[in-house]
Amino acid sequence: MIMAPTRHFRASAIFFLLFNASVIAAADVQSAFTVQCSSLSALLPGKVFFLRNAKSNASLQSYFSAQEASIAPFCIVIPTFTHDISSAVQALAAFHTFWPAYGIFAVRSGGHTPFASAANIAGGVTIDLNAMKKISLSTTDKSVLSVSPGAHWIDVYSVLDPLQMTVVGGRGASIGVGGFLLDGGISFLSPSLG
Ligand SMILES: *[C@@H]1O[C@H](CO)[C@@H](O)[C@H](O)[C@H]1NC(C)=O
Repeated sequence: MIMAPTRHFRASAIFFLLFNASVIAAADVQSAFTVQCSSLSALLPGKVFFLRNAKSNASLQSYFSAQEASIAPFCIVIPTFTHDISSAVQALAAFHTFWPAYGIFAVRSGGHTPFASAANIAGGVTIDLNAMKKISLSTTDKSVLSVSPGAHWIDVYSVLDPLQMTVVGGRGASIGVGGFLLDGGISFLSPSLG
């Protein structure tokens, strides 16, 4: 019952997106990408930022390296909920299915990996998870820590330090949990805990 309107909303949103894209001439690549980002913006109001905007500037400037910060995506999506991410990815996938040059995206957690395009993309859409930083410790036995993907290890240690607890996490404050957990990374505890 609750799912039906949601599904309807998503289908309409994707239709809207594809309709918009079909209106523009395929040859006009720059405006095609603009339409792609405008459509994402219609889908996620207030969460999609074109370049040279205060939010997108702040996002780009918060990368660890100048090489990564110098990459220019067409727009930056800053989701706040899990379903924002799935809506954006579904829309981008739909774009990509119909127009393979579009719908290319990068996902960024901490943005600490220094090389260009590790978590940013030229000519695509960057999904910056920085607004999702929720951290919670299981209340029963405090053995499970749930961390949203935009958190940096400093955010995690700030919660755990006062409790005299820790995790096998990154060695640098600005390292993000997402890349560290997916790509592997080195913890001060790795020699004893793996
Ligand atoms: C964003 O950064 C650009 C330089 O890259 C600058 O020209 C522009 O004024 C900035 N915009 C805002 C709103 O901060």
